[in-house]
Amino acid sequence: MSRSSRPNADLIIHNAAQVWSFGTRVAGSGLPDVIEAGALAVADGAVIWVGPESALATEICAAPDAVWLDAAQGLVTPGFIDCHTHLVFAGTRAEEIAARCAGESYLSISAKGGGINATVRATRATSEDALVELALPRLSRLLGFGVTMAEVKSGYGLSTESELKMLRAIQRLGARQPIETIATLMCAHAIPPEFSSARERYLDLCVSEIVPEAARLGFVRFCDAFVEQGAFEVEEARRVLERAAALGMRPRLHAEQMTSRGAIDLALDLGAATVDHLEALQPTDIPRLAASDVTSVLLPLSTLFLDDPRRAPGRALWDAGARVALATNLNPGTAMSENAALALGLAARFNGLRAEEALEAFTLGAARALGLEDRVGALCPGFQADLVVHAAPSLAHLVWHLGISHVRQVVKRGRLVLDRRDVPRCS
Ligand code: NIG
Repeated sequence: MSRSSRPNADLIIHNAAQVWSFGTRVAGSGLPDVIEAGALAVADGAVIWVGPESALATEICAAPDAVWLDAAQGLVTPGFIDCHTHLVFAGTRAEEIAARCAGESYLSISAKGGGINATVRATRATSEDALVELALPRLSRLLGFGVTMAEVKSGYGLSTESELKMLRAIQRLGARQPIETIATLMCAHAIPPEFSSARERYLDLCVSEIVPEAARLGFVRFCDAFVEQGAFEVEEARRVLERAAALGMRPRLHAEQMTSRGAIDLALDLGAATVDHLEALQPTDIPRLAASDVTSVLLPLSTLFLDDPRRAPGRALWDAGARVALATNLNPGTAMSENAALALGLAARFNGLRAEEALEAFTLGAARALGLEDRVGALCPGFQADLVVHAAPSLAHLVWHLGISHVRQVVKRGRLVLDRRDVPRCS
């Protein structure tokens, strides 16, 4: 496309050390993955041009009132896509940490009625409006780490009324702040207390009422299930996910987190979008995942939070050719942290990804997990202009200077939504 046939740019990002476009992953873009001394132009919320700054003047016409954003020799990357969070909830689980530090396990706390069911009690007792207000600061912290899209699960309601309340709150949050929200139904997160000795009846409620009502909302894209000791067995999760799939929600699975119990077979059978966690993944499942379209989602903040000595095998999955994504898993029980920078660094330290792989997993890999890779996750012409300017000279700096937000600016759909020109340069 020539300069004259492109629309006038209303936002131009210049003076970047590198622009990470992931162009080789986008059919027909003709771009390399990274452009040194790059620049980027946006019109009407979409990227219209990416290339070397030396070509900017010949390729782009700026609108008279265009915003010129100086990247100050930092990195420009796609915005982080947090494809696994449980950030809508009420109450605290701070007291569980002391018990955990005294040696009590997550599963044993859950078996005594704490864990997920503690958050269920608090969330049920909280109004939809209050849930929205409680979640806003969490989203604001995620934005401060460069997140521009977040998937958010229900799963702390576990009744028709409370699951729908959570899902509506998730949807409303997308309109209240810059991060786009993607809703996932997770009625198969735990057996609620009133069904503790009637789990079949809870599953009946899920398939006959909760799943169909959630589908009727029209905006719930995924249905997730927790296959784990004390949560759901494979065949129970299958019932819920098959019903959800029949009603248009794509299955996802919390799989092989604490114990290994066949969740990968189910995910492959159902053609699930993702399997998430994977600390207990069997090595024989790695080539099976690699041969599928199922994305393996790494959640290293949970590995850290639970002090799990095992590591999800990110390196082996990547080398086998599996689809890999990375997320925070922000939730009150296993990852009470919005620190996407720490997740990025831990993907390198714990899961063996190189810095550029960790970035890809947190952007384009996550977009693929959500089925949105033709719109977000890369910075190529036609993509949504969701991007971050990092005050860092290289990706290696981001995984080295661990757990600190080096975010200078965040752009969402072409609009500057966070501007911290005074953030110190990472060094
Ligand atoms: O992804 N593992 C299950 N669900 C969450 C934890 C939820 C909680 O403990 O509140 C997770 O880690």
